Amino acid sequence: SATKVAVIGAGPAGLIVANLLRKAGVDCVVVERHTRAYVEQRPRAGMIEHRVVEMLRRHGLADRLDQMADAHTSCEFRIDGRRHEIDYSALYGGRRHYVYPQQELVTDLVAAFLGTGGDLRFQAEGVRLHDLDTERPSVTYTDAATGRAARIDCDFVAGCDGFHGVSRASVPAGALTEYSHHHGINWLSVLAAAPPSTRSVIYAIHPDGFAGHMLRSSTVSRFYLQCPVGDSVDNWPDERVWAELRKRLALRDERWTLTEGPITEKRMLDMRSFVVEPMGHGRLHLAGDAAHVITPVGGKGMNLALHDGERLAEALAAHYAGSDALLGAYSETCLRRVWRCQEFSRWMTEMLHAPAGEGGAFQRRLAVARLEHILSSPVAAAAFAEDYLGQD
Ligand code: APR
Repeated sequence: SATKVAVIGAGPAGLIVANLLRKAGVDCVVVERHTRAYVEQRPRAGMIEHRVVEMLRRHGLADRLDQMADAHTSCEFRIDGRRHEIDYSALYGGRRHYVYPQQELVTDLVAAFLGTGGDLRFQAEGVRLHDLDTERPSVTYTDAATGRAARIDCDFVAGCDGFHGVSRASVPAGALTEYSHHHGINWLSVLAAAPPSTRSVIYAIHPDGFAGHMLRSSTVSRFYLQCPVGDSVDNWPDERVWAELRKRLALRDERWTLTEGPITEKRMLDMRSFVVEPMGHGRLHLAGDAAHVITPVGGKGMNLALHDGERLAEALAAHYAGSDALLGAYSETCLRRVWRCQEFSRWMTEMLHAPAGEGGAFQRRLAVARLEHILSSPVAAAAFAEDYLGQD
């Protein structure tokens, strides 16, 4: 078959590209390795920036989000057993964060695309990209459901298949510059069927390491625990997870209880950042995790993926309307935001983490100094709010 744009991957990036292209009247086909049920249930990120929600609303893609998502205006830092709340919304024009699990957004975007007759092929195995240096690249794969081989000829390939995808790997060696950084810590990421024990996100700085309480829904919460590099999930039976969370999140002079529940997912996250420049090669343009990964600190990963997708769809639509200016600027435009977020996330990572125990005492004092700066200086607080909420 033939189309204008072949989109690889049905994550947030690929699905926003596909939906916006359809709305602009540009033909596209999406190929996704997994089944529809799998992508609609895979829990990942959960915090969506104000500007991203506005973009989804403009395109009529936020109906269910507006019914279900909780809007947030503040976050809480805990240090030395004391809590400090930052009402960031008031500091950046009343913008808010929306708590909406990634798989819910993916579900909405799949339904919107298919609902308007979009061509989305699940269970596409062994996807390969060809002739990216020509004006007529193609994509081949095997339909795992039928065992049949398929080929899509196209004008452009949108590589939205995440960090481990085939798109970036299809670029000839040496054509992209890779930047990567390991932050020297790990996070144990825990998803629990437990109602939240807080109204806003909690970031706790503790001598035994960082602990975070994130929000997902009225029945599900996500927690993070700082661990040493090389640590394994096997060292974290459920009882230890809850004991560490209780200890690191504890308040000194206030009663506060952590609501526990069955743990449904436990993963060890390598806290790594990665960016490629430029975000494409020939007729391939990369978007989202395919081009850059960021740690969960600051909640930027999904927002960057959606920003890339919006910019790419807009640039491709402009191409078919006769102008290549946006496509030419695509990589640079996205990378500006990517690096801003990387810098913010790194800054916040440094504030929240020090090596556990004695060795981290100096850094923990610096963390307190940084936090006090945000808490006492309206200018510093406003700068934090702008980054945390996401610059317009
Ligand atoms: N062929 C086809 N599809 C693929 C392939 C492949 N070889 N490899 C991966 N995919 C699919 C995955 O199954 C997934 O559905 O591509 C999609 C990529 O989606 P994401 O990994 O969610 O990436 P992206 O859309 O860029 O969104 C980034 O995900 O990791 C989180 O925190 C991150 O929230 C951010 C978001």
